[in-house]
Amino acid sequence: MDFDDVVRGRRSIRRFTDRPVPDETVGQILDLARHAPSSMNGQPWCFVVVRSAETKRRLAELKNRFCPLEKREYPADFLATAPVVIAVCAHRDRAHDRGRESALLASATILLAAHRFGLGSVFLSAYESKGDELRTAIAGLLGLPDGVEPFTLLPLGHPGGPPVGKALRPRSELVHIERYGRLPPED
Ligand SMILES: Cc1cc2nc3c(=O)[nH]c(=O)nc-3n(C[C@H](O)[C@H](O)[C@H](O)COP(=O)(O)O)c2cc1C
Repeated sequence: MDFDDVVRGRRSIRRFTDRPVPDETVGQILDLARHAPSSMNGQPWCFVVVRSAETKRRLAELKNRFCPLEKREYPADFLATAPVVIAVCAHRDRAHDRGRESALLASATILLAAHRFGLGSVFLSAYESKGDELRTAIAGLLGLPDGVEPFTLLPLGHPGGPPVGKALRPRSELVHIERYGRLPPED
């Protein structure tokens, strides 16, 4: 698959088939994630590969329990039914105060790599915007040592259906030339 197809074709997938995801494919995806940029090249990430049905069920339950009211119509139940969940974490002492940013870039690479290998995924954060309860509960469940923080939970599986429709915002709304408000020539 060429780069444009990977980028244009990646979509959030929240339903998965039972078809197994081989360890080898997970390994290939995580190998690509190692190439993500990171602050001061600290490469602070670590990836916890979860296949245990009980752990996935508890991750789904935690995400749902700490879901803000306005997002409750999008439950994270699919974490329990995905064949694999990757928890992307970062070591604080390698992070140069940018563990979150580095972990998010590795996560974006995983989302693209998953699509490249014919798998679906979706970005779920492993922390709340305010408070530490979700992060602490996930760290406890996954046995993370002190100084290792979870940042995302990425299910992996064969897509169980097409993604929901999505309209892209037009380029004319997004691009400014030299100064905000100076629009590019129409194409
Ligand atoms: C920061 C961030 C948080 C997100 N949180 C959730 C989430 O809690 N639950 C979910 O189902 N999808 C979540 N998503 C996925 C978005 O809903 C999805 O990327 C968006 O609708 C665009 O669709 P696409 O990924 O198919 O292009 C999140 C995405 C980002 C970037």
